[in-house]
Amino acid sequence: MQKQIKFRDDEAKSHQGDTGSNPGQEGAFISEKSTRIGLSLADADPSPRVTRCSPDHHGSIKIFEGAAEEQYDHLIQNYTPAPFQLIYWDPPFFTGKQQESDSGSFSDSWPDLATYLHWIESYMRRWPSMLADDGFLVVHCDWHAGHYIKALGDEALGYDNFRNEIVWHYTGRRQPARIRVNAKHDTLLVWAKSDAATFYPIFEPWTRDEYVRMKKQEVHRDEDGREWIWGHQGRGQSHAYRIYLDEAVARGRAIDTVWDIPIINTSAKERVGYPTQKPLTLLKRLVGLCTKSGDWVWDPMMGSGTTLMAASQMERNGFGGDQNPDAVRITKARIGGCP
Ligand SMILES: C[S@@+](CC[C@H](N)C(=O)[O-])C[C@H]1O[C@@H](n2cnc3c(N)ncnc32)[C@H](O)[C@@H]1O
Repeated sequence: MQKQIKFRDDEAKSHQGDTGSNPGQEGAFISEKSTRIGLSLADADPSPRVTRCSPDHHGSIKIFEGAAEEQYDHLIQNYTPAPFQLIYWDPPFFTGKQQESDSGSFSDSWPDLATYLHWIESYMRRWPSMLADDGFLVVHCDWHAGHYIKALGDEALGYDNFRNEIVWHYTGRRQPARIRVNAKHDTLLVWAKSDAATFYPIFEPWTRDEYVRMKKQEVHRDEDGREWIWGHQGRGQSHAYRIYLDEAVARGRAIDTVWDIPIINTSAKERVGYPTQKPLTLLKRLVGLCTKSGDWVWDPMMGSGTTLMAASQMERNGFGGDQNPDAVRITKARIGGCP
């Protein structure tokens, strides 16, 4: 009964402090065309609920105190064109728990799966109108509801705009469980707003041996002792040119969809004590993949502000908010330079 899927507008509306209009009703959304007044995010913000911080790093950071639906209403009324190259959304995962840690807590407890999915859907319908044509939406989820979220995202952004399912794989204590194998990954679902969106390729270091193992080819040496293998060019041209191993290894290896990044351990320097805090390394990789210097990133449920930290350290600009005052307080302290 707990996990039966049946949408109930009334419950979703009243749950999790959805202070905005009823997301189930079409007319509830502010019309993009009629009300935007055309500020750029670089301008001073007209709302007293927005704090502009000037961290030591480059990049401008704006923090909104309030729920994601209020952030959305504020942004859509004031900013045009749709300003974000990346919206990173890390909502509660439908764990059924009160998420608690040393310096904060938030509820991830729901009457049933249908209520949760209705809540998710209400935001999915909002995000596309805030994305630049070449922007990306990334939704962070896990096995609890990720498969349903994929379907809702396809509906909002288009199945053909789905780009990747990235697996964030982490280590941790493993139990010899009989009911479920140890779950040690989260999923990042990535949609592009349109065909105009392109990634900024990332390469990771690898060794000569890893390269040779992947190529499965005979290694030759030239007269100077440099190692090389044959490069292929189309059908039948298997000995087309030389690939020197030192150059190939120096270029690095293009990343794939499985990202091995450790979770934040209890004594890590970056740990701020907010529950479900994500590693900075993860967010920096994502921000680097989807944006370039000077772009704008929005994290509407920012928690401890990891995305804003990543954006600021990478010379991007960030807008973030949270309905939890602890999250806003922690993020401001973490970013620095906030009045
Ligand atoms: C999974 S946590 C985000 C963790 C964050 N990525 C980090 O690294 O710290 C989810 C956050 O969503 C916030 N939240 C839940 N409902 C919200 C809403 N309607 N508007 C804004 N924030 C919300 C919670 O307060 C919580 O901080």
